[in-house]
Amino acid sequence: MLARKLVSADNHKNPPNSGVANLAVRLRRLRQNPVIRAAFQENRLSKEQLMAPLFVREGSQTKPSGTLPGHPQRSLPDLLKYLESFAKKGGRSVIVFGIPAKKDALGTGAYASNGIVQKAIRAIKKNYGEDLVVAADLCFCEYTDHGHCGVLRKRSGVLTPNFYVDNDATLDLIGKTSVSLAEAGADIVAPSGMIDGMVAKIRSSLDRQNFKETIILSYAAKYASTLYGPFRELAQSKPSSGDRKSYQMNPANAREALREMALDAREGADILMVKPALFYLDILAKAREEFDLPLAAFQVSGEAWMIEQYARSGMAKREDAILESLMAIRRAGADLIITYFAEEALALLSR
Ligand code: PBG
Ligand code: ZN
Repeated sequence: MLARKLVSADNHKNPPNSGVANLAVRLRRLRQNPVIRAAFQENRLSKEQLMAPLFVREGSQTKPSGTLPGHPQRSLPDLLKYLESFAKKGGRSVIVFGIPAKKDALGTGAYASNGIVQKAIRAIKKNYGEDLVVAADLCFCEYTDHGHCGVLRKRSGVLTPNFYVDNDATLDLIGKTSVSLAEAGADIVAPSGMIDGMVAKIRSSLDRQNFKETIILSYAAKYASTLYGPFRELAQSKPSSGDRKSYQMNPANAREALREMALDAREGADILMVKPALFYLDILAKAREEFDLPLAAFQVSGEAWMIEQYARSGMAKREDAILESLMAIRRAGADLIITYFAEEALALLSR
């Protein structure tokens, strides 16, 4: 690697660091006009690589979003209406999040055969068939009254209330939920709870019910990040007490992310995801070197929020900031990007 760099950057007359510029090599040659720049552009972004997160609520009223412009909690009829324009612009994939009418301790709304996400998936697939890839986020935090991503248990014998998410009890619910999403017609199930063994559980549950073609997109390296704030407001999924640090990853860890991803790959994940994206591009780049599986990245709500506010303040052109952020995620190695800017980026890519 070093040798290749030296040969191309130096004509051998000047030893490195001699203080003499080698102007036989001029990198600006390939930047001199838009056509030349485009010819040698290393990475590209295309419409098929964008997946839009969508929120669907029970009931007939769409609730406007105070947090993410363009992302209300849609009623099912409004969601279907929205998808018409999304598909017309070239949108090809969505990931659906549900906001149920009622929450309970076990998050039963997540695997109800007539749950809001199940109804939404059925309706979308009925209208669009193979023209739209439908992924379903598989987690319980939108469905549990305590807002945690699984079955919550209390530890006794401590002074302060101490709750934990019971890994193996949650696995049973994950298996059930995956089948209910596949039955509704989901092309992709995307477990996001960071529960150990979730991918293996889903694969075996799906296969047992003959859903052998259902794709698993695993939130394999998902960090306990500060960047999920706007999502939790919108999806009403904030934990009522505590945080998610006992299941989501410590932001200080990189090697552990590779272990998470290797495990999920071995358990049968079809696509591995890193989340968030922009603060974790090093993880994405490492994963790109390490794995041959397709990689996804989730540009999360707090990232969208930051870009939004930056553009609003007039510091940059909004569309340029959006496209630069998405290109950075591509450059780091993502095949698929989940982004709140999907619809907007589709329009920008058509220009
Ligand atoms: C559910 C889930 C979350 C996100 C995706 N799936 C929230 C969380 O883990 O608290 C975050 C997405 C975003 O911030 O845009 N577990
Ligand atoms: Zn969750």
